[in-house]
Amino acid sequence: MSPAAASVTRRRVGILISGGGSNMAALIAAAQDPAYPAEIVCVVSNRADAGGLAKARAAGVPHVVVVDHRTHPTREDFERTVQAELEAAGVEIVALAGFMRLLTPWFIARWHDRLINIHPALLPSYKGLHTHARALADGVKIAGCTVHFVRPEMDVGPIIVQAAVPVRDDDTPETLAARVLTQEHRIYPSALARVASGAVRVARDGDGNEVVRTEGAVATEASLISPDRP
Ligand code: GAR
Repeated sequence: MSPAAASVTRRRVGILISGGGSNMAALIAAAQDPAYPAEIVCVVSNRADAGGLAKARAAGVPHVVVVDHRTHPTREDFERTVQAELEAAGVEIVALAGFMRLLTPWFIARWHDRLINIHPALLPSYKGLHTHARALADGVKIAGCTVHFVRPEMDVGPIIVQAAVPVRDDDTPETLAARVLTQEHRIYPSALARVASGAVRVARDGDGNEVVRTEGAVATEASLISPDRP
């Protein structure tokens, strides 16, 4: 390990999943670099059949558990068990990665500005489900994905990073989802690194809106025009 890597403070991250866990896998892969400012110490799935569980175990995540929401009488009961697992693993930051349960204000308040989510759309457009089918039905020419801090309203919260992709005339929800997912795997590790290293802070703009400010952020003049030919 290089001296620079040895001096990095690695925040302890827990990931909540419900499915295949490809975003989780992207975070685990990024955290394999000792210079990455976070380590993945815990993965919790609300479904026992989530494909991501085997990936997390194979990657050596120390604390991989199922908390089945169906065996808990209320949402709060479910979340208290999840919370206990996160605390047992000493988690400092929580990343939702294809976690398909709504979280209550109780849980969200406990993780204020330490709880992030990835959503397969350019928020605030296309909150909720079936984002790609809805975008295609609207005929939009650019789609994308967003990593944001979580607030109690669904798919709302200060935006940390976004990526955009072109929409093609022959796209199906599946082909568009695949193009967006490739970008999800790029921006989620980048967003988590910024949160874990303290490079981002949530500020208020002049109108009182919550916005993320990123230390040393650079935005190029590059643009994505779609379609760009002929
Ligand atoms: C990802 O596209 C993620 O953005 C989306 O589910 C997929 C999970 O894939 N999340 C949501 O729709 C949350 N509202 P993964 O399990 O392979 O990461």
